[in-house]
Order: sequence, then structure tokens, then C-alpha cells
Amino acid sequence: MLYGGDYNPEQWPEDVWARDMELFQQAHINSVTLNVFSWATLQPADGVYDFSRLDRIVKTVTDAGLTIVLATSTGALPPWMSLQHPDVNRVDEQGRKMRHRERHNACINSPTYRRESVALASRLAQRYAHEQNLVAWHVSNEYGGFCWCDNCAERFRDWLRSRYGAVDAVNDAWNTAFWSHTYHSFDEIFPPSQLGDTTSWGNKSVLPGYSLDYRRFYGASVLDSYREEKAAIRKFDPQRPVTTNMMGTFPDYDYFAWSDDLDIVSWDSYPAHDTTAAQVNLRHDLMRAVGGQRPFMLMEQTPSRQNWQPYNSLKRPGQMRQQSWQAIARGADTVQFFQLRQSRAGCEKFHGAVVGTDGGNRTRTFREVAELGEELARVSPRIHGSRVERGGVALIFDWASRWGIDFSAGPSRSLDYVREVERWYAELHRRNVPVDLVPATGPFDEYAAVIAPCLYLMPDEVSHALRAYVEGGGRLLLTSMSGLADEHDRLHLGEAPVPLRDFAGVWVEETDALPPTTIVPVVFDDSVAADEDADDDAAGTVLCDVVHADEGTQVLARYAGEYYAGTPALTFRSSRANGGVFYAATFPNDAGVRRTVDALLDGTTARGVDLPVGVELSRRVTDEGTVLTFLVNTTDRPQHLRLDLSGTDLLTLSAINAELSLAPFGVAIVETTDEPSASSEVAHGSVPTVAH
Ligand code: GLA
Ligand code: ZN
Repeated sequence: MLYGGDYNPEQWPEDVWARDMELFQQAHINSVTLNVFSWATLQPADGVYDFSRLDRIVKTVTDAGLTIVLATSTGALPPWMSLQHPDVNRVDEQGRKMRHRERHNACINSPTYRRESVALASRLAQRYAHEQNLVAWHVSNEYGGFCWCDNCAERFRDWLRSRYGAVDAVNDAWNTAFWSHTYHSFDEIFPPSQLGDTTSWGNKSVLPGYSLDYRRFYGASVLDSYREEKAAIRKFDPQRPVTTNMMGTFPDYDYFAWSDDLDIVSWDSYPAHDTTAAQVNLRHDLMRAVGGQRPFMLMEQTPSRQNWQPYNSLKRPGQMRQQSWQAIARGADTVQFFQLRQSRAGCEKFHGAVVGTDGGNRTRTFREVAELGEELARVSPRIHGSRVERGGVALIFDWASRWGIDFSAGPSRSLDYVREVERWYAELHRRNVPVDLVPATGPFDEYAAVIAPCLYLMPDEVSHALRAYVEGGGRLLLTSMSGLADEHDRLHLGEAPVPLRDFAGVWVEETDALPPTTIVPVVFDDSVAADEDADDDAAGTVLCDVVHADEGTQVLARYAGEYYAGTPALTFRSSRANGGVFYAATFPNDAGVRRTVDALLDGTTARGVDLPVGVELSRRVTDEGTVLTFLVNTTDRPQHLRLDLSGTDLLTLSAINAELSLAPFGVAIVETTDEPSASSEVAHGSVPTVAH
């Protein structure tokens, strides 16, 4: 397994490099990600290139036996380029033209940026593609943000013309008759920045359809730019995987749109001191989903602390190892750090690194990295390439619905799309029920149940996919704020949730918003089996729909407060076989979520595993049918488990039989052999290893 990460020797005199090579060897590091931010040196002036330093770096790490993930350096502009070609600089949402700001700073539609980024990627590929130890290409870095310049405005108009044809179609899609926005020509349309189409209160969108289209347009531009660099690399390197590092639930771009263009998904995982294990896993699972459920690269994590959180707590002894195995359990096939040697100055000088400013191997961080490196070298060949067990439950993550909710003024500023997805994920995680994150268009057929939290935008493509799933006997859970609008954020006309009104068997007449500390008690019907520890203080939070159930729709829970006391809070409309639609009219608290998930999974094949709080179980399955059961103790307490499982712990080589003790942050990987698995699709886009 690749073990290493971002290495920035350009920040250091060359005599330090030799010492680094020794330290990396001691730490069992076998891979370096190079050249992430070096454009200004690689191209010191227009048309002038200088690869001499990078040549020396490549030679140094190659002689040391390391593999290379080579970045294209296009994530930060050279200052001279910003000065001589101001079109590369972004304009922000307040209309301020940047001079040479920070990094991740290019206007993605700048002709200069496009031309020069492709030229650089091309020269790098030409020069280094023959290096035997090069294992992957890393385009740019953490793409993010937007530009609102006049050139982007021009490109946006082109995008609108090709999407809509005539300006009247735009007027129709965005409902521009609202507040006299009717456009008579495409030239009247500018990016919906704060100079234009946001409200003076709350920074909401005046015409959310307009903002949605700008997001789609800008995301497509970023993807285009990535594609151009990738194509330039492909001319010299037909084979090595090309990726860019993503950021989990990052809001700006719809990562599912990138699936076909990433040979491998890679991502940067930075849990804070208060991030829960479920929140971390959700992000791993989402990234795996973007890669079609194939293994991914953990391109970055900190070995110890971050610098950009409000409180940059250290990972506790053993916690970095635990989080690394947790990532592997959810599908990571590399463990990489940011960064290998700490910067001595700059805004990341307090960021953790494998080698600190002491420059040695005596720190706790270094020791833990070295121990994990030794362990991975020993164990990872048994794991690499295996697939995470497919989920019994699918949980929809939909960037467009999230944007639509964020752009909308009302019904509640407490509504947080990601938190609503996390609400359901946390419960599945608590039960150790296998779960896959999926896009709103599916496919869903292999899942015992599908949960669609706040699936606010529901174009035909989505409602048809969900209808087909339910017609095939699937169990679908919808929540409040689902199925309300089309892809342009125009509300569907008719009784909500319009596109699934008949299948849901409910009519949502109105929706109440609860102030932050207010809850409305909910009483479940006795027919909904409570799991053992369920208490009876179920309640609704954030929003409460006032719902009418059709005849034949079962009411599984009712509100016990407010003027809507006694009306449905959770319903089920059965369709075929065990299938049907659940409608959660409110966002239940923990007790309510437990009851709701009990009802949803009742009679399905989705099974959890009972484990002590804070211990999680995930499985990966090899092509030969070997099952690797990862048991990860995410707490700082020892844990004792009883399990319906026997096999060998890959880490300790001890026999496991029905019982297991885990140290604080301890991990076990129990290997058992099952029926041979049918799937053996690998080849395309498998994560590179060190053995080449
Ligand atoms: C991101 C970037 C890195 C570095 C780290 C710090 O992940 O990709 O360059 O800035 O954050 O946590
Ligand atoms: Zn721009």
C-alpha cells in the first residue's frame, strides 16, 4: 500500500533532503507526493521552464526507492502570471478583483490559465512519464471556490445558450417574472454574485434557479479544466491513474459529476477533535461512492494536528493509527499524510508533519507513523484491492438538493442538509448496518432500503428512479423537504410531495419551523418494535410537516404537541411485497430515528451487528472470497466484544473465537474465508501499489 504523502523539499536546503530519505526509510514510508505547489519555479517567466530542481528531487526520492505521486502544480499561480495576465486572477463575490491571492486562486475560465496549466501538465508528463517509480498523477489541488469575473460571465452565457437555446427558456426556468428580472437578451445576464442576485438580508438567492445554474456551470468549467490537464498527461502517459484530491462533503461542486473522469478517487480527511466516527465514515463512504464503490486513495490526513481549525487538538496516542485503519476499513487503499516535513514558516507552520522542526525521529508522531508503516508493510498486501462489502441500505447524497436548500430563503435557517444526511447515517453506523452512499438517480435495486433525506429537488429522472425502485418492492424513506421542487427550484404544483404523492400516500399540507431549542414530542405506534434501549422520548426537530394520510396509509407515529397533535409524524404506504414508502414528516431526534429505522428495516435482509458504543465493524471482501472484518475501537477506552465470528487477526496473527478485546483506539482485522465471490472487476482504476 502506498504510505507517505505530501513532501515539499523545495522549502528546504538540499542537505536536508538526504536526512529526510533516511527518516522516511525508518518510518517505512514508500511514497511521496511531489510538486503540489511549485509552478512559480517550474515556469519563472512566460515561455520559460526550469525543471532542474524537480529533476534533483525526483532523482533523490527515486534513488531512495520511493514511489512518486506527481502533482501538476496548477493549484497556485505564479505571481508574475497574475501580474502580466490579470485574467488569471479571480473576482470574488463582492466584485473585488484579486491581485495574487493565496492559492487555489485561478479563474478557471481564464484563457491564460487554461493554456498555461495544460502546457505545464504536458511538459511534466513528457519529462517524467518514463520514471518507473511514478505511480499516479495528481492534477491541481483541492479544487474549490468560484470566480465572478466578466470572462466567467461570457462563458456562463455560452453555457446558458447551449443549454436553453433561447433567452425565454431561461426566463421560464428561473421564473424571472419575479421581481422584474425578465431578460430580453443573454447579454443582460451576469454571474449571480453579491453585486447582483443575492438578497440584501441573509445572503440568499433571489432566483435560486439562477444560482443553481451558475453552480452547475462553474463546476462543469472546473471539470473541463481537469479534463484538459488529464488529456495533456495522457499524450505521454497512456496508463497511470490520474486523480485530483477531493474533500468529502465539500459543497462547491457535485463530485458525482466527476466519477467518469477520475481513474481513482482520492481525498483528504481532516476530522476535528469533535468530529464523530460516523461523520468520518460517511465521508469515506461518499468518496467511495464517487468512485463507483471502488477503493480510493487517502491522499491526505494529518499525522497529528491541523492548523486551520479553531482548536487544533492533537490526535491522541494510537488515534492516527485507528483513523488510518478506519479509512482502510471503508475502502482506502493508501495511507498518505499532509505532510512529511513540517514547514518552518508560512501559514502551515503549526500543521502537524511526520518530521517536525526537531528534524529527528524521537517524537511521538514519528514513532507512531513508523509503527503504522511497519504494520502496513506487513499486512496491507492481504487487503489491497479488496472491495468494501456492498451496503444493505442506500443513503442518498444529492449536491443539487443541498444547493437548492442553501439558496432558499425559508423555511428555516436551522436546516442543514449535511446534518440531515448525517442524522440517518449515524443510526446505521451505530447498528453497524452496511450502508452505501448513492446519488439521487440510483441505481437502487440491490438495496434492502433507500433513505432520501431532504431530497428537495426532484426532477423526473430522480422520481422515476425512485418509483421504479418502489415498484420493484423496495422500501424508501422520504423526509420533510423532499420532492418539493424541479431541477430549477420551481415548486412542483399540486399536493406535495407531488412526484411521489401517490406512492407516499400522504399530502403535506403545511410545514412548521421550530426555533432551535424547541422540539415536538412524537408517539410511536405499538406496532413499531422498539429496539432494546429505545426510550420513549422521541421528538421532532427543525421542521414539522402537517400531513394528511390517505386511506390505506399506516400512521406509525403521531405528534403529541402543538396544534397538530395527533396528526401523522411517520407514515408507511405499502406497495408491492414488503416494499413501500415511509414518510418522516419531521426530523426525529435520536430516539425517533431509532424507531424509524427499526420500522424501515423490519422484514428486510439488512442486518446490523450489536457492538459496544464506539466500536465499529466493516467488511472488505477479496476476489478470492476472503472476508476481512475490521473492528475499530474509536474510543479511548478498552472494549471487550462478543462476536459471532472466528478467524485470525491479521494484525496479531492470534486466533479469534467469539470474543475479542480491543485496547483504546485498538483495531483487529479478522480474516475468514467465505464462499468465493462472483465479482472480479478490477483492472481499470485500481489504486497503485508499491510493487510495480
Ligand atoms: C489541504 C491541502 C494541503 C494542506 C492541508 C492542510 O488538504 O491540500 O495542501 O494545506 O490542507 O491541512
Ligand atoms: Zn472568472
